[in-house]
Amino acid sequence: MAYVLFRSLHLIAAVVFAGALIIKNLATGRLISQQDANHLARLSILSLLSGLVIGGCGTALWFWTGKPATFYSENPVFQIKIALFLALTGCLVYAAIFFNRHRKTQAAEISVPTTIRLSLRCAMLCLTLIPFLAWAMARGLGLSPN
Ligand code: HEM
Repeated sequence: MAYVLFRSLHLIAAVVFAGALIIKNLATGRLISQQDANHLARLSILSLLSGLVIGGCGTALWFWTGKPATFYSENPVFQIKIALFLALTGCLVYAAIFFNRHRKTQAAEISVPTTIRLSLRCAMLCLTLIPFLAWAMARGLGLSPN
């Protein structure tokens, strides 16, 4: 029961997280309005909350319910998935700080630095790879046969 609950929450939060990231990527051009910055800062909060649910439920699936923790911990595919999630989080925090800083700016238009747009693209790339790794590691692909 707990396994089904955490697994479902993990997947629902991943869908919300992906939706927020896709919108952020589409909405962030070279120039954004003050209103855009405000909306993007709010979307960053949604990303943070769904990221917390993903991480919390993922940790419960890892250590508490379902398969034994070593099934995941010893699998390099799972380790790569966690590393990508951490890289993705770093990219999103970097962009979120920028949007939050410009939330209440007086300027009508804000120039978005290339590094911010690149960090969002990089996060998108990580998010595209994670489901493949998740699928593989949940089936034990990557574990040595013995
Ligand atoms: C954006 C980040 C993430 C996404 C998109 C994601 C996605 C997924 C998906 C799609 C599955 C189901 C795989 C399947 O059964 O075919 C899964 C399973 C799992 N995830 Fe994640 N995940 C993410 C982050 C994390 C994190 C940070 C952790 C650990 C702290 C984690 C731990 C797990 C575990 C342990 C399972 C295995 C559940 C099982 O064996 O049924 N995930 N994840």
